[in-house]
This record gives sequence, structure tokens and C-alpha cells, in this order.
Amino acid sequence: MHGPGLLWRNYGVAVLSPVLALGIARWPDAHLESAPVSLFLCAVMLSAWLGGVGPGLLATVLSAAAFAYYFVNPFLSLAVAEKEVPRFVVFVLAAVLVGSLSAAQRRSIQSLRRAEEVLRGMQAELAQVTRVMTMGELAASIAHEVNQPLAGIVINGNACLRWLAGESPNLEEAREAAQRIIRDGTRASEIISRVRALAKKTGSLTERVDLSEAIREVLALCAGEARRHAVGLRTQFPGDLSPVRGDRVLIQQVVLNLVMNGIEAMSDVQDRLRELVIQARTEADQVRVTVQDSGSGLDPQTLERVFDPLYTTKPGGMGMGLSISRTIVENHGGRLSVVVQDGPGATFEFTLPAYR
Ligand SMILES: Nc1ncnc2c1ncn2[C@@H]1O[C@H](COP(=O)(O)OP(=O)(O)OP(=O)(O)O)[C@@H](O)[C@H]1O
Ligand SMILES: [Mg+2]
Repeated sequence: MHGPGLLWRNYGVAVLSPVLALGIARWPDAHLESAPVSLFLCAVMLSAWLGGVGPGLLATVLSAAAFAYYFVNPFLSLAVAEKEVPRFVVFVLAAVLVGSLSAAQRRSIQSLRRAEEVLRGMQAELAQVTRVMTMGELAASIAHEVNQPLAGIVINGNACLRWLAGESPNLEEAREAAQRIIRDGTRASEIISRVRALAKKTGSLTERVDLSEAIREVLALCAGEARRHAVGLRTQFPGDLSPVRGDRVLIQQVVLNLVMNGIEAMSDVQDRLRELVIQARTEADQVRVTVQDSGSGLDPQTLERVFDPLYTTKPGGMGMGLSISRTIVENHGGRLSVVVQDGPGATFEFTLPAYR
């Protein structure tokens, strides 16, 4: 409800609630004739809470009039006898106080809500910006990914034509080549639809997300980058991993950043296996995802700083990946942290609420 409709409702409540309070106070069976004050104060509080200062004042004036008319000597008159003046004044002061407190509380809640909305909008925009940015970085590897099936299609198309040519075409081989063409075409279109899904705007934070599938999609996107850095990607998901509650694309954004960070941290490693291990397990009412690499690792001083916005050690880095990822995870009701580990490399983990 907006505009005039809301105004009518608020002033309607400001008129009706003192009338209702009066009705209850004067209802013989309720025996409240001697204690109408609390009922009128409730009416004022309700009106100010719903409508702010204007309706709160109207309810105060109406309550004061009803109070003076029915409950203050002389009865059935708006006049106030001299010895009743203190009681009446205290009533009016209490009503004004309750009304203004209620209106102030309403104002602060409204401004809090507006601030939250602005913040949410900014976060969504920021997440969108980083997603597009990371996409830029990935564009090269995606082009590479799509190029492979396309090259396969051309090779198999030529082969197919060759098998069909000549006096006695080899139909069996031609059929197999055609099947390989279909397989490669499907693969290319899958890659493209994954990219399209990643670039989509964010949805709601309460969808049911199949985590292992969402992570595998991200890994498929990172495969080219991993190959380029000679990094092995390994997953350990139990078969009965619980689905999580959240926004699939935002969760993929978090995983993407952790995986890219891991790959980048291992690019200079020469003396050990370059391997990124992603584990997930269900724990009571949440799911925990661990991303472990064998890269350059983090020393205790930088451990604390990696989540700071703009902290980066990379020439082309923005230093926003982890800070945005942490915001995304916390907005989902989970936690993203770095795990202190023995040996080389770094381990990051995050939790998300299980979808029940
Ligand atoms: N797995 C890791 N191993 C070692 N250092 C890491 C790892 N992950 C993050 N870091 C450190 O934390 C810094 C911040 O990471 P973050 O993802 O926030 O930004 P970035 O990767 O530098 O840039 P971008 O905004 O493009 O993601 C990195 O520059 C790096 O120094
Ligand atoms: Mg990063």
C-alpha cells in the first residue's frame, strides 16, 4: 500500500483506535471505567507507530477529548474541574511522550531499512561487477574451451565426408564421425550456457542449490586456466551431500574466486605437485566447503589482511575477491575463513546453510 491509501489507513487507525479504547473502557462487563489511561495510551502508541507524528497527534487529541468528556469531572463535558487538572495534564503529557517515542522509533527503523536497502543494492552491483571482471579474465580460457570442440567438429566433418566419398562409402565410420560432431557441438553449447548462467543477474538467497553440481560447473570454467598453469583440480564430495540454501550464481562466484586464487598461488611452484583439492561435507544444519592448494601459502601477518578490501599482492589484482566473497557468504548466513595449516599452501573454507 502506498500514497493516499496508506494515509487513509493511518488516519483511520488514529480515529478508530481511541474510539475502540473508549468502547472497551466504557463496556460495563470489562470493569475498566477506572483505568482508561492505558487503553488510550495504547491507541496513541499504535497510531504513532503506524503513521508517525500526524496520526499520533490526532490520536492524542481524540484520546484527551474522550478522557475529559467521559472520565474527568464534570462528566459528559469537555470541561475539566480544577482538582482534576493535574490528572488530565499528566494524561496528556504521557500521551504526547508515548506518541513521540513511538514515532521516533518508527523513523529510526525506517531509515535503518532504507540504509539496508541501499547497502544490499550496492553489494549486488559490486558482486555483478566482479563477476563480469572475473569473466573478463576467464574470457581467454573460455575461448580456448569453445575452440576445442569447434576444431573437433571441423575435423570430424571432413572425416565424415571422406568416409562417405568414393565407390563404397564406409557408413559405419561416417556414422561415428557424425556422432562425434554431435558430441562436440553439445559440449560447445554447454560451455556457452554455463557462461550465460554465470553472467546472469543475482536471484534470491533462498533457492535450493545442488552444491556439487554448482562447483563442478565452476571447475569446468577454470579447466583451461588450470591446464595452462599445470594445476590438477580434484574434488571430494560425498554422494549424499546436502543441498544448500542460497543464490547459485553468487555461490559460484565465491568458489570461482577461491579456485582462481589457488591456481594463481601455485603458478610459481616448482618443487611439488600443483594440486587444488575441493572438499565438501554436510555438518548438522550446514555444509562446509574446503579449498586447499599447495601454493605460496600465507604468512601469519598477511593471514589477517587477505579479507581486507583492496588488499592484493598481484600486479593485475583488484584485491576485492575475498572481501566480496566473505560478504556473499555472510549474507547467506555462513562464514568464510582461512585455515591455518601445516606445510605449504593455503586452505580456505566456507559454510552455507543446508537446504531442508
Ligand atoms: N590461496 C591463496 N594462497 C596464497 N595467497 C592468497 C590465496 N588467496 C588469496 N591470497 C592472497 O590474498 C590476496 C587477496 O585476494 P583477493 O582474492 O581478495 O584479491 P586478488 O586475488 O588479489 O584480486 P581479485 O580482486 O582479482 O580477486 C591475494 O592478492 C593474495 O596475496
Ligand atoms: Mg582473487
